Amino acid sequence: MIRKFRYGKPFPTDAVVKNVGQTSGMPPFFTVTEQDGGVEYRYTMEKEDCVFGLGEQMRGINKRGWHYDGYAYDDPHLTETRTSLYGAHNFIVVFGARTFGVFVDCGKRVSFDIGYTDPDELIITFADADVYFITGESVLAIVKTFRELIGQSYIPPKWAFGFGQSKWGYRCEEDIREVFRGYEEAELPLDMIYLDIDYMEEYCDFTVNRERFPDLKGLAEEFKEKGVRLIPIVDAAVKVKEGYHVYDEGVEKGYFCTDSEGKPYVVGVWPGDSVLPDVLNPEARLWFGSYYEEFLKQGIEGFWNDMNEPAIFYGQGSIDRAFQVVASKAGVNLDHETFNEVQAAFGSLANNPDDYAAMHHKAEGELISHSEVHNLYGDFLTRGAAEYFAERDPDRRYLLFSRSSYIGMHRYGGIWTGDNASWWSHLALNVKMMPSLDMCGFLFAGADLGGHAEDTTEDLMLRWLAFGIFTPLMRNHATCTARDQECYRFKDLGAFRHILSLRYRLLPYLYSEFVKCAQKGEMLFKPLCFEYPEDARARTVEDQLFWGESVMLAPVVEANAAGRYVYLPARMKLLRFTRHGVRERVMEKGEYYIDVPLDEVVVFLREGKVLPLAQPAKNVASLDDRHLTFLKFIVQTTEYTVCRDDGVTKSSLQNFETIKVQP
Ligand code: NOJ
Repeated sequence: MIRKFRYGKPFPTDAVVKNVGQTSGMPPFFTVTEQDGGVEYRYTMEKEDCVFGLGEQMRGINKRGWHYDGYAYDDPHLTETRTSLYGAHNFIVVFGARTFGVFVDCGKRVSFDIGYTDPDELIITFADADVYFITGESVLAIVKTFRELIGQSYIPPKWAFGFGQSKWGYRCEEDIREVFRGYEEAELPLDMIYLDIDYMEEYCDFTVNRERFPDLKGLAEEFKEKGVRLIPIVDAAVKVKEGYHVYDEGVEKGYFCTDSEGKPYVVGVWPGDSVLPDVLNPEARLWFGSYYEEFLKQGIEGFWNDMNEPAIFYGQGSIDRAFQVVASKAGVNLDHETFNEVQAAFGSLANNPDDYAAMHHKAEGELISHSEVHNLYGDFLTRGAAEYFAERDPDRRYLLFSRSSYIGMHRYGGIWTGDNASWWSHLALNVKMMPSLDMCGFLFAGADLGGHAEDTTEDLMLRWLAFGIFTPLMRNHATCTARDQECYRFKDLGAFRHILSLRYRLLPYLYSEFVKCAQKGEMLFKPLCFEYPEDARARTVEDQLFWGESVMLAPVVEANAAGRYVYLPARMKLLRFTRHGVRERVMEKGEYYIDVPLDEVVVFLREGKVLPLAQPAKNVASLDDRHLTFLKFIVQTTEYTVCRDDGVTKSSLQNFETIKVQP
């Protein structure tokens, strides 16, 4: 059951697709205080209560014990004490003495204090929002009801489930060819190579540097024939430059964000002075989306949207003030306070709330401050591209994923989880984040495998890939200053080949489970206690997940570990994927230590279930998913339903085949 409460004047976020009438009276369970336009909800938690959700966030699957903000923020330091990351996903489920869900639908900052100020209190603070209360018989039922409320998750084309290689630093055609050759010569599968910002001319969106990429169309076509697609980045900010068609056209049409007087608001991003498309204006966002055509006509079918929190390095005015501070201190003795002042002048420039407040959108003819709608920016920018694709070819699926997002964007594209680092703790974070993202509808998601910042190591890369083979978006990506981490650069190529091949062998299962979960509003990754709510031990497990209907995962996320402890909430069959084949062992419910060598992947098959496997393939195009073998833990004939679409159209997504599997 869903109840909706309105506070103040919420800006329409389009997160919700279902019509829910407003309820009068008080929301259940919470004490509500309204003051100066702000609202505070308070709920006293019992000791055993867990709180799940919040999508892209730091910390555990159970979010208790910290405070979080629904606030899209670009800061590449993903440390434990951060309160928000790139997306704002304001949905939680409290599970315990009472079980219920809350979605605070609001484009501005929303705070969730989940036992931080007081270990027993859940305090949610916001203003101008629609709040949805959801009750149901279980956490899974509540999530399903929520997912019906927000609409069906985006399903990319099938090839997007292949493995992709990326790095900020591929500067020219030859760099791309080298990556392709590296994978080919090492006989490692590959479906995508990503183009980061260096392909552009002066960091201008929708341009290509012709010296470095003389024939992008030719390259895209040649690679596509070999089964590898090129996926360019698209940044939110547009360079201020007369004569640059995107800038000129946007200025002429009034499609950029402005100051309070209607003049384009200048911010600094990669190209220096830039302006931001006013994506809250439907015409402006479709206009920006229509520029993707420049790539589509070159045979490109996939994109990643970056810097759309929106990230700003400096704002107009504030950079001048910073220089003034610095100039005023020239020749002055820099004692502790003075030095801090100088440092702060520049240190406080990026993503400054003053710039967000000063920047305006035109929404329904009225100027509205960006602060009022901040969290919607990345969502609406990505939506603009999706709307253009739908207009261009309503039945075709394109690959589209974004860094910033708000609930609602899950209908238009996927996300990657931003600038993690090559740290073991970030591999663990990747594991914990997946179910929270699924709860909020972001099924097509993944982290930068191997880590984006800092230098990775061979063992971290292998362990990360051994989890990454289960994430729908599977991409190895690193920043320009990190050491090279393409899989072919490492020593034990056999181990990499084995793990990457397993992704392709599992792809018919992953794809079928993904499509079914998207269509039914279910979760691909589930914490153990979502399936075993009565099992107190299952509630404490933060590093194991169910993956689709058949499998439980227990990835190794620690350095130098020869294996790990695993909790089996029920009888299962261990499947050990070694380089030489699969070894199986039935195990009763309980706690175990399991050896997991670096070149092996261990998963657990649930009783009564089967797991389809294809033969290894070098890319999705050459994957034979007609001839599947099954790993089984059954005593009677069991059915498994495989998605049999054509991989690219929306209409074919209704085609399934149910296969009968004998014990
Ligand atoms: C920030 C993104 O998060 C990262 O993935 C990318 O490599 C850099 N921008 C450069 O485009």
